Amino acid sequence: MTIGARVFCLIGVCSAVWPLVLAAVSPVVFLGYEYMACHTFECCNSRWIKRNETELRERLRENIYGQPFATRILLNAVGNRWSDPNQEYDKPLVMMLHGPTGVGKNYITRTLANSMFTEGTNSVFIHYLTSAVHFTSDDNIKTHISQLQSWIEGNSTICGEHLFVFDEARRFPSGLFDGLLHFMAHGSPAAKRLGRSIFVFLYEGDEPIVDWAQDLYENGEDRETISLLRAEEVLLPYIVSERGSMHDSVLVKRGLIDYHLPLLPLERKHVRKCIADSIHRNILSKGANPVMLGYEDFDGMVDVIEKQIYFFPEDTPIFSAFGCKKIDGQVLSEFRLPDFKHEL
Ligand SMILES: *[C@@H]1O[C@H](CO)[C@@H](O)[C@H](O)[C@H]1NC(C)=O
Ligand SMILES: *[C@@H]1O[C@H](CO)[C@@H](O)[C@H](O)[C@H]1NC(C)=O
Repeated sequence: MTIGARVFCLIGVCSAVWPLVLAAVSPVVFLGYEYMACHTFECCNSRWIKRNETELRERLRENIYGQPFATRILLNAVGNRWSDPNQEYDKPLVMMLHGPTGVGKNYITRTLANSMFTEGTNSVFIHYLTSAVHFTSDDNIKTHISQLQSWIEGNSTICGEHLFVFDEARRFPSGLFDGLLHFMAHGSPAAKRLGRSIFVFLYEGDEPIVDWAQDLYENGEDRETISLLRAEEVLLPYIVSERGSMHDSVLVKRGLIDYHLPLLPLERKHVRKCIADSIHRNILSKGANPVMLGYEDFDGMVDVIEKQIYFFPEDTPIFSAFGCKKIDGQVLSEFRLPDFKHEL
């Protein structure tokens, strides 16, 4: 046979068989392609949604001080959900973290993201919305609601397991979150589709938590002994009556926020732990030691920073005004690593 004939034959054969061959291989090719793609790019599977409860637990234990109640509830609620990745839920887990600045709301959320997704906070399954940036225009509330709904709806068709974070939640337009109702109402199809997702609202503010913490302190009550019931009694009347995003909130009234977790202002003993961590991380791990820097011991270094922290209220200064927020900055401006001293 000539080469021409062979080619002809080949084409002849293929022209009849090719569609069949294609039909046979394409699912394999497709699955292969998907397998390869999901190896490299995030997909809605356990390679990318890792749900590492140990990591969550360890990070929170090591880095969050003074919030035994909130961390315990969060770890149990999330841990139970993660323990069986195949279980379906009829609504997503919805948590609201309440508290003043610097007490750990953002750290907890970041840690949750990092232990939930392989890509951590860069995951495409994380939706971070902050009132500083999102829904700030003067558009009417209906427009904002329909945009928010279409985002969530659109994402829920891609994957059922997302982390939605609403930062500075108090300042979102009042009524916006009512638009989340059908994603959270028991039994609604949209809520079921997002059943494995987690919604976190970070509701910032001193009131009414600081007063509560002060009462606990004055009565010598342990922070660990507070209860979810007490948290709701203290927090809910306040947030639904104040002018803010939760004013008259349907989510609150219908009990669709599963947990209201209070993060209490930090006391001296908690702040000292943050200072110690910061000194270790920023100074001692770089090869310096207290004596090199002119201090008798490590506690001496901690004392120097503690003295620069603003505690309130004025008559009995027990709480740190900025929690642990500004400590790294204070540590870095107080101590100079000896290696670089000659350059000054
Ligand atoms: C979960 O996290 C822990 C602590 O970071 C780590 O040691 C462990 O290997 C992780 N487990 C999985 C399955 O990735
Ligand atoms: C998913 O949510 C993001 C906001 O985090 C939004 O920009 C995007 O358009 C949404 N995707 C779909 C398919 O709706």
